[in-house]
Amino acid sequence: MSQFDLVIRGARCATASDVFVADIGIVDGRIHTLGRSIGPGRREIDAGGRWVLPGGIDSHVHVDQRQTGGGLTADTFATGSVAAACGGTTTMIPFATQDRGQSLRWAIEEYHDRARGKTAIDYNFHLIVADPTAEALSEELPDIVAGGCTSLKFFTVYDDVMLKDRQLLDAMAAARCEGAMVMVHCENAAGVAWMTERLLERGLHAPKYHPAARPAIMEQEAVYRMTAFAELTGVSLMVVHVSSGDSIALIAAARRRGVQVHAETCPQYIALDSTDLDRPGLEGAKALCSPPPRWRGNEAAIWQGLEDGFFDVFSSDHSPYRFDSSGKFPHGRDVPFNRMSSGVPGIETRSPILFSEGVRKGRIDINRFVALNSANAAKIYGLYPRKGTIAVGSDADLCIWDDRYETIIDNGLLHHSVDYTPYQGMRITGWPAITLLRGEVVAEYHSFCGTSGNGRYVPAEKRMSAGAVTPTQAELSKLGVRLASGQ
Ligand code: URP
Ligand code: ZN
Ligand code: ZN
Repeated sequence: MSQFDLVIRGARCATASDVFVADIGIVDGRIHTLGRSIGPGRREIDAGGRWVLPGGIDSHVHVDQRQTGGGLTADTFATGSVAAACGGTTTMIPFATQDRGQSLRWAIEEYHDRARGKTAIDYNFHLIVADPTAEALSEELPDIVAGGCTSLKFFTVYDDVMLKDRQLLDAMAAARCEGAMVMVHCENAAGVAWMTERLLERGLHAPKYHPAARPAIMEQEAVYRMTAFAELTGVSLMVVHVSSGDSIALIAAARRRGVQVHAETCPQYIALDSTDLDRPGLEGAKALCSPPPRWRGNEAAIWQGLEDGFFDVFSSDHSPYRFDSSGKFPHGRDVPFNRMSSGVPGIETRSPILFSEGVRKGRIDINRFVALNSANAAKIYGLYPRKGTIAVGSDADLCIWDDRYETIIDNGLLHHSVDYTPYQGMRITGWPAITLLRGEVVAEYHSFCGTSGNGRYVPAEKRMSAGAVTPTQAELSKLGVRLASGQ
């Protein structure tokens, strides 16, 4: 190569498995060469021995989305992706939502239209399925998966999107058949409704009662049921936003039974707890999300799962609702907790929180950070090795980390369209000094310097199609069923 487009010199690179020092030669947005003293670049950046890591992948993001029971998200694809870039994230996977009665095809097309030409980082979609008709599953789903949207999200709660058990089984079976991945929001709807009624009839309306209305045992009930359904259908499952230690135990047990079940957690389950909802007035609503942050001390179990490799991904579940308007309070401010929009913003602070609290405090090593921050999401959602690693041929999505940079999270420094952050005042050590998307600098520290609209849709690979779910005799006998001969 006579001249690279860009050379990053003296990079201390880490992937999910390796650490090595190299110069990185980039051509046409991809990593062309990894080596020592490589030829010149039209542009050169001296990493000076700092960590150069794969750009972050935030695989659970809500932007420009009609949210269940809540207001419109404040961030668009444009603003959400700029905020992501300033926090070192170069790929995001937001949700496209199917309304009941709407075709899956329309839903995905609609979100392509919302994102196209407006997004500053690369993206894919997960598709929320709220109406899994036989036609949607058999006629539309194959095309959607072929188009590179290979992950579906199902809900066990929220009246407007939740699926019944039978629908969940049919949809999981169809997903397995098409080689799609299934994500599930696990909370028992009846348990949450019942607890909410008990609290409201006693006049307990404040945000601090939200965790009591959605107890961990109701998350666990749904986790057990969904892992059992995954076992029955053979689908690959991701339990999203795992909030409690006992859910970890249930998922670990399912894995021991051979169920392919992945697990995600989020900053709100290590950096917040239920006391954050117990702030004066409506301030507690700034930490109101579902599942809720749990009791103080529960975060130790989440950290254990991050440290020992139980968790696959660390996503933000970025749910941007403004506090000063109808976003967080679509039914007015004088309403009980169950009428407030559920969700917290976090797309820009996700990676720095994990780096600061994890790597800098010695809880996780740099390889585990890369795995949680980007590599595992890329592998699970079919974007690897184009995304999530530093390798010849991969997209040059890179972050040069300043691991000594000290800052205090302040909403004034963030780029989302939300007027608060639940992490206001948190001390952070380490921030992405330079973030590159396909070899172009898109952010330097807290400043965006990329181009809105340069982000591309990255189609995801599907999983190996496992074919239709026809239980074999072996599977049935594991479940204690015997077939008569000839069946
Ligand atoms: O409260 C939350 N997490 N809102 C966002 C939607 C979801 O359930 O992921
Ligand atoms: Zn959810
Ligand atoms: Zn979410």
